[in-house]
Amino acid sequence: MTDIKKGLAGVVVDYTAVSKVNPETNSLLYRGYPVQELAATQPFEAVAYLLWNGELPTDVELAQLRAVERQNRALPADVRAVIDRVPLDAHPMDELRTAVSLIGAQDLAGSGSVLDASGNPEENLARSVRLFAVLPAIVAYGQRRRRGLEPVAPRDDLDYSANFLWMTFGEVPDDVVVDAFNRSMILYAEHSFNASTFTARVITSTLSDLYSAVVGAIGALKGPLHGGANEAVLHIFDEIGDAAAVNGWLDTALAEKRKIMGFGHRVYKRGDSRVPTMKAALDTLVNHYDRPDVAALYDALESEFVARKGIYPNLDYPSGPAYNLIGFDTLTFTPLFVAARVTGWTSHILEQLAANALIRPLSEYNGADERHIDGYVADE
Ligand code: SDX
Repeated sequence: MTDIKKGLAGVVVDYTAVSKVNPETNSLLYRGYPVQELAATQPFEAVAYLLWNGELPTDVELAQLRAVERQNRALPADVRAVIDRVPLDAHPMDELRTAVSLIGAQDLAGSGSVLDASGNPEENLARSVRLFAVLPAIVAYGQRRRRGLEPVAPRDDLDYSANFLWMTFGEVPDDVVVDAFNRSMILYAEHSFNASTFTARVITSTLSDLYSAVVGAIGALKGPLHGGANEAVLHIFDEIGDAAAVNGWLDTALAEKRKIMGFGHRVYKRGDSRVPTMKAALDTLVNHYDRPDVAALYDALESEFVARKGIYPNLDYPSGPAYNLIGFDTLTFTPLFVAARVTGWTSHILEQLAANALIRPLSEYNGADERHIDGYVADE
């Protein structure tokens, strides 16, 4: 009897030098650095540089990256025109997928045959930086257009996280909010062979192009078992209403065998190493916006669900309410995850390209026995 590993659970399929997820020590390293230390000390641009290049940038290298990021952060007119063709009630992840697809088609136009699709490391690093730079404008415009607002042009006097908030809300954000948002982007940036990253690696392993791999990863991340969970957490908070209603709501939800979004993890089984850092960021936002009700509901649901099921929060549980407090629409949450994770995805794309090994697992057939077409006679 073949030992099938459903969902590839527990299966080690390759090496990676990008990050180390260690459930035994409940830790996460980006190129060797604990993510908590990066979140407490680095701008997101520096962490992006680290993931792509393997080292934290010098001041000169950071300044060079910031210059290229500023040159590419405006919403291109034809990308806006395509986004404006997407129905307003489509999911923003479909908008994002469409925009990246257009950007890729334009960049790759005329680049020759399919044999040239994958490109070289320098081209793909430059593509990665340009996607990193433009995604905030696309995500910000997505939220604004659903509110009937025009896009806000980027500001060169603001770094990545502050500019992302400026383009979304049209106001220069408080430092407290910028810091909490910056931490969330660092925490969301990378997490080894999660479903969307592995999707990107599978697509890359055929020597397809970086944009095709990112579009595929966006599709995988949309699912509520993966990146869509942060959006789903807010839907649950809206359903419950307040802390006093948690027990009754959980009675019903568990009786219906519902998955409680924001809890559980395929790799971490005693809590997600990123949660304490994101929870601390949420706490600063709860104080900044004076919303003790959010903290009460958060704590009540966590303590009750952990007590009943022994399943712990993952990163999506604190990040959902944090993004809600900052003012992002719930539908914008998973696009924010894309803007952060594009750094991890593209780091893995570069690594997979260098490995140059097709990913193609086996399957165990359990379908109909061999049978034949009535009257068919093979040619001699
Ligand atoms: C992310 O892989 C990554 O690294 C992903 C990510 C990243 O940074 O890329 O960390 C980001 O995707 C975090 C996860 C976000 N998803 C959710 O919050 C959705 C809710 N979580 C569950 O669907 C679940 O916990 C998974 C999918 C995340 C993990 O599931 P597993 O490892 O496949 O475990 P399982 O579904 O087999 O659960 C084991 C048991 C089951 O009970 P039984 O059927 O054995 O009785 O635990 C139960 C599950 O029903 N369970 C839950 C639950 N999570 C597990 N029951 C209710 N609610 C939950 N959230």
